[in-house]
Amino acid sequence: MKLITVSDEEELSRIAADILFTKVKSAKRLVLGLATGKTPQGMYRYLSKYSKECKQTFQHIHTVNLDEYVGSTTYHAYMEEHLFRHIDIPRDQIHIPDGEAASLIEECSKYEQMIKELGGIDLQVLGIGENGHIGFNEPGTSFDARTHVVQLTDSTLKANAKYFVDSEQPKQAITMGIGTILESKEILLLAIGERKANAVKELFKGSLSEDIPATALINHPNVTVLADKGARKLL
Ligand code: GLP
Repeated sequence: MKLITVSDEEELSRIAADILFTKVKSAKRLVLGLATGKTPQGMYRYLSKYSKECKQTFQHIHTVNLDEYVGSTTYHAYMEEHLFRHIDIPRDQIHIPDGEAASLIEECSKYEQMIKELGGIDLQVLGIGENGHIGFNEPGTSFDARTHVVQLTDSTLKANAKYFVDSEQPKQAITMGIGTILESKEILLLAIGERKANAVKELFKGSLSEDIPATALINHPNVTVLADKGARKLL
């Protein structure tokens, strides 16, 4: 695992966007795995800015998001607001789990099939939960898990409650599994702030534990972690 140290959120966002934008510019076709949450917002802001300034097309980009709440379009709206409305990506090349699907089980297997048909994910961006979750893979999830429906833990519900001031917070989500995430050719994990320091410490301790889902990344051959000062506090 490679660690890139940055001082703050601004620098992290710019460097993460630089990494993605370099690939967008040079690839003929690219499958990007995307994440939501507060962490990647700055990266999307820079990416949108670069795309506008350089008149860079995203016609050759396919995106696959990590997760969505059940019965909700929260992350669809998030992606639209922070990235998709700022770039010229074709709509049929955007993929986010459908949390409103009539059959969630079917939606999960369709999602897996879709990723396979795309030829897998070239670069997966990840945030990290305070409890070490990636996507919505909560502690205890098997490292072999494929896309599935999860019951969110109290810790995750509490950390994300701020996004649901006007609506009821769903207690379930669809998430890409850890096994699915691990098949990405490259992974970029972003960690900002002291709240993530313990999860980052566990990640770099180097011992695999299903209690800390992010430790599954230890054995992946191409992982880069971008962490600011706060997130590195316990290293
Ligand atoms: C949610 C998302 C994760 C994200 C995490 C951290 O649980 N499903 O993909 O990494 O929150 O969010 P934040 O970046 O807001 O701290």
